[in-house]
Amino acid sequence: MVQVSGAPPRLFTFAGGDSGDWRIVAMTAVAGEPLPDASRLAMIAGAAGAERAKWRLRGITSNERYVTRGEKSELVAKQQDLGRPDSTCAALIPIRKTAAWWALAQDERRRIFEESSKHVRIGLKYLPAVARRLHHCRDLGEGELFDFLTWFEYGPSDAAAFDALVAELRASEEWRYVGREIDIRVIRAEG
Ligand code: HEM
Repeated sequence: MVQVSGAPPRLFTFAGGDSGDWRIVAMTAVAGEPLPDASRLAMIAGAAGAERAKWRLRGITSNERYVTRGEKSELVAKQQDLGRPDSTCAALIPIRKTAAWWALAQDERRRIFEESSKHVRIGLKYLPAVARRLHHCRDLGEGELFDFLTWFEYGPSDAAAFDALVAELRASEEWRYVGREIDIRVIRAEG
């Protein structure tokens, strides 16, 4: 892959297997088919590596589709970067949306995403405790199992708040368009 020197990586691989910096403590198929069991998760910048993994999921960061200027300013003011030393807990939640979602027009999706489901309004309540990165998979090719790989990092004292956040989102109209979702919880491995 050609990378502009100095630019942060955009393509990430999440690999489940027996190696990686994160220990898998729970893996729940919230909707659709589960993924094979694994004990460790590796997050790798780029496409290569983890040849012996049981599964590998790729996603790329992208421009935002839905946020307004006002929402973006609020997010930028509150959010923190990944990699905070105290954030020893994390969640990888791969999500596939249904054909009905992708058949909608952009303005219809925005209405469901925010005016009805309040995704950003809800999410903002949990910043800066939760740090996040959204990866898109759809435009990488036809073999991708998911549309999005969502990644969140937080401290142990915010684990219950994170559960409340996912419960709020899963009760929303947006989630009626989620066809497959795996909730993978990890903690940073000690050496
Ligand atoms: C930590 C609080 C959260 C905040 C602040 C937040 C914020 C956002 C924002 C701003 C976007 C839209 C980006 C765009 O304009 O394209 C987005 C998209 C998304 N978020 Fe969240 N989010 C949060 C938590 C979550 C959680 C817990 C999940 C999964 C359970 C999740 C799943 C998604 C998905 C799948 C998308 C892509 C939606 C689509 O493009 O159809 N988010 N989030």
